[in-house]
Amino acid sequence: MQFKLVPGGVLTGEVRVPGDKSISHRCVMLGALAQGMTRISGFLEGEDALATLAAFRAMGVEIEGPSQGNVTITGVGLRGLRAPTEPLDLGNAGTGMRLLCGLMAGQAFSTELTGDASLCSRPMGRVIDPLTTMGASIRSTEGGRPPLNIEGGRKLRSIHYDLPMASAQVKSCVLLAGLYSEGRTSITEPAPTRDHTERMLRGFGYPVQADAGVISLQGGGALQACDIDVPADISSAAFFLVAASIAPGSDVLLTHVGINPTRTGVINILKMMGADLTLENRREVGGEPVADIRVRSAILQGIEIPADQVPLAIDEFPVLFIAAACARGRTVLRGAEELRVKESDRIAAMAEGLSALGIQNAVLEDGIIIEGGTLGGGVVETYQDHRIAMSFAVAAVRAEAEITVLNCDHVATSFPDFQGLARRLGLQISVEAG
Ligand code: S3P
Repeated sequence: MQFKLVPGGVLTGEVRVPGDKSISHRCVMLGALAQGMTRISGFLEGEDALATLAAFRAMGVEIEGPSQGNVTITGVGLRGLRAPTEPLDLGNAGTGMRLLCGLMAGQAFSTELTGDASLCSRPMGRVIDPLTTMGASIRSTEGGRPPLNIEGGRKLRSIHYDLPMASAQVKSCVLLAGLYSEGRTSITEPAPTRDHTERMLRGFGYPVQADAGVISLQGGGALQACDIDVPADISSAAFFLVAASIAPGSDVLLTHVGINPTRTGVINILKMMGADLTLENRREVGGEPVADIRVRSAILQGIEIPADQVPLAIDEFPVLFIAAACARGRTVLRGAEELRVKESDRIAAMAEGLSALGIQNAVLEDGIIIEGGTLGGGVVETYQDHRIAMSFAVAAVRAEAEITVLNCDHVATSFPDFQGLARRLGLQISVEAG
């Protein structure tokens, strides 16, 4: 499937983008392991979260839905999962695989975790290392890549782990293994990363401490089922935050967006660039802050992106690069080497696409320098990465000629019907067979 975009367009209207991917994965996992019935609304019916849901069904958990974002899970308790008869296929989802890895290390049965070609090329050593120190036994292919074979029946011991990189997936993996470990598991992170696991564990009645950058929990407790309202995903909203900012005359309201401070780097960075964003109707749902975000077009300026914002905007850089391409002057990003091990090498993929559209840029080992300019038309490759595809789709609002975005199937992993919503807001997007 590929996107074809007519240049130009003004974005107007009000939309609620689909549910948060990080939270959707986690509520299936914790709901399955809780005691009692967990009712979820606003669940992301994207392929990534559905793969996690299928994995728990394969381990004997009764799950109703999803139907219009509603899911009901009958929890089996921390020790109630059953051995799956086949490998668990997490599709394209790094979060699904890395978090599940921590949980599976604590089970009485062995499991194999696998995924699509992209996931099977991503590094898992970052979770295998701490889990092995905790006493797990995990086999991988060359270079710590999936499939992963996780041996059951191992006794886990708690550790203190100094995270070598700012990764919420690794932090969450260790915390989830910590549920099955004797004693207290603790972690320090080099910079704050998304804290949905910590918040949700507390929501399920499981104490988690976070003091002076040290996050810890005691193994051997129990989770109590609860109801969860999943906010709209700020990572999906980001495409329209940028599109409406760069398309003159735009005025869009994105409703019920999660604004957890560990996720709002995109808002902070866009505001530093001069974007006109206002947060209205702030409230809290199930331990997560949400707001409606109003965005009106504005003239953007290139900036040096502050290092502390990098982990807080890690998934939004592809679309922030489009904002930078449309800004006046130069934008510099450093300290973002993690972008190279996402669903694609996002620095290389974006640099290539920006060049194809006539935007000058220089690739750095850990970032990129982008000179604001005029976007031309052209054909861009996505390397089957959903966020690269959606980023170049929104670039069309400021392009001078038609843009074709190749290989867009993976958009369904995080943003089902992106094209429908985008069209409703004013993007001139059509879908063609690839
Ligand atoms: C996620 C953490 C981030 C992010 C990913 C979702 C999570 O990955 O990029 O899309 O839900 O914990 P890292 O932990 O690799 O930074």
